[in-house]
Amino acid sequence: MTGPAAQAAAVRREFERIHGRAPDGVWAAPGRVNLIGEHTDYNDGFALPMALPQTTVLAAGRREDGLLRLHSAQGDGRITELAVADLAPGPVSGWARYPAGVVWALRERGLPVGGADVHLDSTGLSSSAALECAVAVAYDELYALRLTRPELARVAQYAENAFAGVPCGVMDQMASVCCVEGSALHLDSRSLDVRQVPFDLTGHGLRLLVLDTRVAHDLADGAYAALRAGCERAAGLLGLTALRDLSEAELPGALADLPDDLAPLVRHVVTENARVGRAVERLSAGEPESLGPLLTAGHASLRDDYRVSCPETDLAVEAAVAAGALGARMTGGGFGGSVIALVPAAAAASVARAVTDAFAAAGFGTPAVLEAVPSAGARRIG
Ligand code: GLA
Repeated sequence: MTGPAAQAAAVRREFERIHGRAPDGVWAAPGRVNLIGEHTDYNDGFALPMALPQTTVLAAGRREDGLLRLHSAQGDGRITELAVADLAPGPVSGWARYPAGVVWALRERGLPVGGADVHLDSTGLSSSAALECAVAVAYDELYALRLTRPELARVAQYAENAFAGVPCGVMDQMASVCCVEGSALHLDSRSLDVRQVPFDLTGHGLRLLVLDTRVAHDLADGAYAALRAGCERAAGLLGLTALRDLSEAELPGALADLPDDLAPLVRHVVTENARVGRAVERLSAGEPESLGPLLTAGHASLRDDYRVSCPETDLAVEAAVAAGALGARMTGGGFGGSVIALVPAAAAASVARAVTDAFAAAGFGTPAVLEAVPSAGARRIG
C-alpha cells in the first residue's frame, strides 16, 4: 500500500519513534511539472503547471517552548534544533533552511507562530517548494492562521528567496498549494488568480511522460538570477512594470529598441505568455492532443532565445518527437532537469525506449521515466 493513508500512517509512526510523542497531524504537498509558461512567473506572466502524485509528507506537533525540532528521513539521522525567535537568514544550511525559512517568513509577516516537532519524508521528489508548502499548510493549521492558498504560496516563496537565497518566482509554490486532481492550473503570477483547467489525459488516450535527464540544476548558481535581472532591465528600458505588459502585437517594435543581449529574452517571455493562452484555449475546448506543437515550440524558444536548455534536454525532446510524441519540451528552470512529452497512450513505451536508447548512443546517463497524472495540491492526510 502506498496511498496517502498508508504514507500518513508510516510518517506518523516515524514521528512517534523520533520525537517520542504523537503528532497533531500529517500533511502532504506535491511537486509539479509545468505544461507551458516557463520563465514567465517572475515577469508577472502566466503558467500552466500541474501537481504530481509525488509529495513531501510531514508530521508535525506544536511545541510551546519556542523550539523548532526538524528531522528528515532523507537527512543524516540527527534532529536539527532551532530557536524560532532567533531564526535569521544565513546560519541555517542544507534542507533545514526550507522549513526553518517558512517559520521565519511567517514571523516576518507578524504572525504569532512558535515551535514544533517535525518529521518529513520526500519519496521520489526533490522539490524545495513541496517541502516549504508542506510546512506552510501544517503551520497554518497548528497555529490557526487561516491564510489563503496564495498567501501560503507567497510565504513559501519568500522563505526560498530571502531565507534560502534562491531568487525563484511563485509558480512552484502556487502549483503545490493550489492544484486539484484532474486539472492543470492556469496561473496569473501578478494577481495570483488561478483557474482550474480540466486536463483529462486518459479520457483522450494520452499519457504525459516525464523524462528526467538526471542532469543537476542549481537555481542558486547565478544563471537564473542573471536571466531574471535581464528581464527586469528590459522591462525598465521599455518603460514597463514587467514584461507581462508587452503584447505580441507590440513585440516587433520593442525588439527593435532593445540591445542584442536582451531582445531574445523578451521574445521568449512574450511568445511564451501567448502560448499559455493558446494552451488554455485548447484544453478548455477539450482538445488536449492539440497541445503538442505548442510544447515543442516552447522548447525551441527556451533553447534558441532563452538559452536554458542543454544537450540532454534537447536530445530528449528530439528523440521523443521523432518516436511519435505529439510534442515535448523541457520543464522547470532548465540547465538540466526534466523534459515532458505528450504521447498517445499506445506510443508511451516506445517513446520512453527511444529516448533511453538515444541517451545511451550519445553517451549520456540513463534517464528516469515516470508518468505524470494531474494530482491534488497540499492537504492534510492524517
Ligand atoms: C524554477 C522556479 C520557478 C520558475 C521556473 C521557470 O522552477 O522555481 O519560479 O521561474 O524555474 O519557469
